[in-house]
Amino acid sequence: MGIQRDAQDGVYFYDYNLQESDQQQEILQGLAQRPKRISAKYFYDQNGSQLFEDITQLDEYYPTRTEVQLLKDYRQNIIDKAGEHSVLIEYGSGASTKIRLLLDALKPKAYVPLDISKDFLFDSAIELRQQFPWLEIHATCLDYRQPATLPRGISPNAKKVAFFPGSSLGNFAPQEALSFLKGVRATVGDKGAMLIGVDLVKPIPTLEAAYNDAKGVTAQFNLNVLRHLNQLGNGNFNLDHFVHHAFFNPEQSRIEMHLISKYDQVVSLFGQRLSFKQDEAVVTEYSYKFKPDTFAQFVRQAGFESEHCWTDENNHFALFWLQAI
Ligand code: AVI
Repeated sequence: MGIQRDAQDGVYFYDYNLQESDQQQEILQGLAQRPKRISAKYFYDQNGSQLFEDITQLDEYYPTRTEVQLLKDYRQNIIDKAGEHSVLIEYGSGASTKIRLLLDALKPKAYVPLDISKDFLFDSAIELRQQFPWLEIHATCLDYRQPATLPRGISPNAKKVAFFPGSSLGNFAPQEALSFLKGVRATVGDKGAMLIGVDLVKPIPTLEAAYNDAKGVTAQFNLNVLRHLNQLGNGNFNLDHFVHHAFFNPEQSRIEMHLISKYDQVVSLFGQRLSFKQDEAVVTEYSYKFKPDTFAQFVRQAGFESEHCWTDENNHFALFWLQAI
């Protein structure tokens, strides 16, 4: 059930986040797998969301600046495709930075940012409304892997455009990505569309540098997941007892992020004792990289036609306009 929090002058809040008991089950199930896994969504507490924003500013992390430049360069083409007065739904909106480039021209009927990080989402929505006082915002806290229920009050007949930047689709396994896209297709309906950013396959050194930055921000981001679990499950992970490890796996076409246990150690979480062997890897994230042609074929299975693909001169990143078919 969604809880509608108090509306603040044109900003409406909804909370559909998992119950704490479901989170506990999900986290412990992941840590019972071999290799152990922690879902990447647990990166994004307030601190993790801020660290991710810091990553997007790093020299080595080319995706954000490349995508922002594409949004600027092809802004008019995007606006022509979307048309004015649509309902804009952003999946994983974070600080709602990129959408600001389009809002003035798109004049959406409503903007629906979806994000798992509640305080970050709500603060960003308030700040966005200050910059765009005419914009109706429905800030919805949920794990966007679950089917999104659009808030009541959103006109069912309005054209819906989904915005999913940053290549976050790459953080899903292929089957999950497909069911996610099918879910988006159902949400936007037959007249709807999706603007999605995807990171492209490229030489390995460029890929690996983006996840092993010299300042160590990505390492902090990765380790922060343990702090978040400590807080959720009254745990005692010691962040100094794990190290960040990220590399490209060419067979799977993905970056893998792991946390490696430095020692044999036992950690308590949700009242359970969890053992880690020295050098044991815990998988925290996959980040799949795509080829434009295979991506266009892939989205067809979800009921989308790739109408346009904009890429930068280095072919590092692509923005796709997907139309419902
Ligand atoms: C959010 N997501 C697309 C980022 C990525 O590149 O896979 C998360 C990230 N992980 C490490 N750096 C950035």
